[in-house]
Amino acid sequence: MPDVINRIQLHNVTKRFGFGDTEHVALDNVSLTINKGEFIAIMGPSGCGKTTLLNLIGLLDQPTEGEYYLDDTAVDNLNPRRHAKIRSRQIGFVFQNFNLIPRLNVIDNVALPLTYTGMSKTKRLQEASRILKTFHLGEREYYLPHQLSGGQTQRVAIARALVNNPSIILADEPTGNLDSKTSHIIMEELADIHRRGNTIIMVTHNPDLTSYASRIITMLDGKIDTDSTKNKAAPFKKQLNIAKSNKKPAPRQTTKKSTKKPSGRSKK
Ligand SMILES: Nc1ncnc2c1ncn2[C@@H]1O[C@H](COP(=O)(O)OP(=O)(O)OP(=O)(O)O)[C@@H](O)[C@H]1O
Ligand SMILES: [Mg+2]
Repeated sequence: MPDVINRIQLHNVTKRFGFGDTEHVALDNVSLTINKGEFIAIMGPSGCGKTTLLNLIGLLDQPTEGEYYLDDTAVDNLNPRRHAKIRSRQIGFVFQNFNLIPRLNVIDNVALPLTYTGMSKTKRLQEASRILKTFHLGEREYYLPHQLSGGQTQRVAIARALVNNPSIILADEPTGNLDSKTSHIIMEELADIHRRGNTIIMVTHNPDLTSYASRIITMLDGKIDTDSTKNKAAPFKKQLNIAKSNKKPAPRQTTKKSTKKPSGRSKK
């Protein structure tokens, strides 16, 4: 596997959870190609499969059906050790709930992704310290996660995602419950990483944040609903409107009932 991944490709990927009566199709025959340097925003209602998609792309989970390629390598059937190796060299995660380890201080949390790279412990801590300084968290290295503000916690989570210098960053609602000012600071940091040529795939519920993206994908019931790439200023504005109009149905739970037609309106 080369140092930089130029193309992520999913072919007819389905992910099912559970069996029999409890079976749930979280991803339904999804095909998707993502090229190096794209900044993708994924939107859609709760439960539509966004995190599942991110976990599959990040090799934290495997598809039930379909194929997954990183450049020309089929990665869906590799063993967990190979997956861990690819992750530790190529992929950075910002999880939906941050996933900082509560009993580890900030610097140890940030150094964690370097554990499997063969670096010495001293070097790992140096690297973690260096990236924390760039996020203005140098003075918080020895704090525990519960001693940080929401914005600081999120910056630590992003620092941890970037410490291994990944070419792909997967961010699941990176600005979760942050106020709009802190959200934009975090987004500027992601935009900067994008400008340096990295690929960013970000899940968000906030249509305002799609303005940072070069491509907006909306999902519905485990499928890709819309997929639009920003080329020029004008079409982009249109895309923002599309994204906004998609916001309205977002809070509703998509159940079969919602597609039921009102009674008494049979066409004859
Ligand atoms: N490990 C699992 N076991 C069983 N079902 C799961 C599992 N993970 C996800 N699901 C189901 O798959 C569907 C998609 O979940 P997913 O977490 O991808 O949604 P999401 O779009 O990220 O939602 P949200 O916006 O709330 O984070 C949900 O119905 C969820 O209950
Ligand atoms: Mg999710």
